[in-house]
Amino acid sequence: MAAANATGAIFKRHFSVTSLNNIIQNVTVIGGGLMGSGIAQVAAQSGNTVTLVEVDADRLKKTESSITNSLTRVGKKLYKDDPGAIKQFLEETRNRIRGTTDLKEAVKDSDLVVEAVVENLKVKHELFKTIDEVAPQKTLFASNTSSLSIGEIAAVTNRKDRFGGLHFFNPVAVMKLLEVIRIPETSDETYEALMAWGKAIGKVCVTCKDTPGFVVNRLLIPYLAEAARLLDRGDASARDIDTAMKLGAGHPMGPFELMDYTGLDTAVFILDGWYQKTQDPLFKVSEAVKKLVAEGKLGVKTGEGFYRYNKNKL
Ligand code: 3HC
Repeated sequence: MAAANATGAIFKRHFSVTSLNNIIQNVTVIGGGLMGSGIAQVAAQSGNTVTLVEVDADRLKKTESSITNSLTRVGKKLYKDDPGAIKQFLEETRNRIRGTTDLKEAVKDSDLVVEAVVENLKVKHELFKTIDEVAPQKTLFASNTSSLSIGEIAAVTNRKDRFGGLHFFNPVAVMKLLEVIRIPETSDETYEALMAWGKAIGKVCVTCKDTPGFVVNRLLIPYLAEAARLLDRGDASARDIDTAMKLGAGHPMGPFELMDYTGLDTAVFILDGWYQKTQDPLFKVSEAVKKLVAEGKLGVKTGEGFYRYNKNKL
């Protein structure tokens, strides 16, 4: 009975996808890292046909296994004690995702392309220039950048009216927010389609102008940087700062746990970029973070950051 109800809920969800989201059915996600794999997963879970692009077969395999792990957690939550329903959910969702290394071929039937590659403007420019030439006119482009300007990324394309930002949060399968970014050229139709798609894949959308960090990172990154400076000054230990923010402010993770979770390299990359642009001391990278990054201790993904992690459990 529970299984029938749960399956019904999924079908209802798929039905609402079709009615709400009729413009965007075929989605191409470029980059299968933490964010790209999560975006591909939530789109497929909601009924989209997804093409995921990575640079080689090895990376595609890693992405596939990360999606399977996360889907299994979602499946267990949805279908609890029904292994058959979990299996069916896994199979159906995975069948909607196709991996490829052929970038040009991957966008040829796409309604929406979401780029989630490395935070490097040159790399993003090359990528968007390439796909702008081959993607159909109707295809909307979006970047999941967390720190670069959407306008600067879109500048190399001939479809700025069909370009926007879609900024997801890690873990994508769990975090409910999606920031939808408009540049001045983004058309109303594009903006509305991006908002409708965000809703159809189960996210709550907020809109923000194309300003550094949008809403969440503009507030979160300086907070993380200040926590690290607190540690630099020897005012409190990482463990105590984490405990303080979890129990005193109700955060699910303390700042050091969160930096380890999202990657210290990501934090440094964002802070450095903003510091170079603004010289604002708020964005200065702390000595503690610099030292860990120099030692290759980037957080959970390398097995050590501010804390140590059991690699077998990753
Ligand atoms: N896939 C699917 N499900 C997952 C998952 C994943 N990757 N990670 C966690 N879950 C599910 C678990 O299965 C569990 O489900 P249940 O409630 O049915 O058991 C539930 O989420 C809670 O997970 P856990 O019990 O493992 O652990 P927690 O309760 O500590 O939650 C967390 C983990 C959701 C990551 C929580 O600690 C959290 O919300 N942390 C803050 C994350 C955050 O702030 N993210 C934003 C970072 S900033 C960003 O991404 C922007 C970028 O630009 C840098």
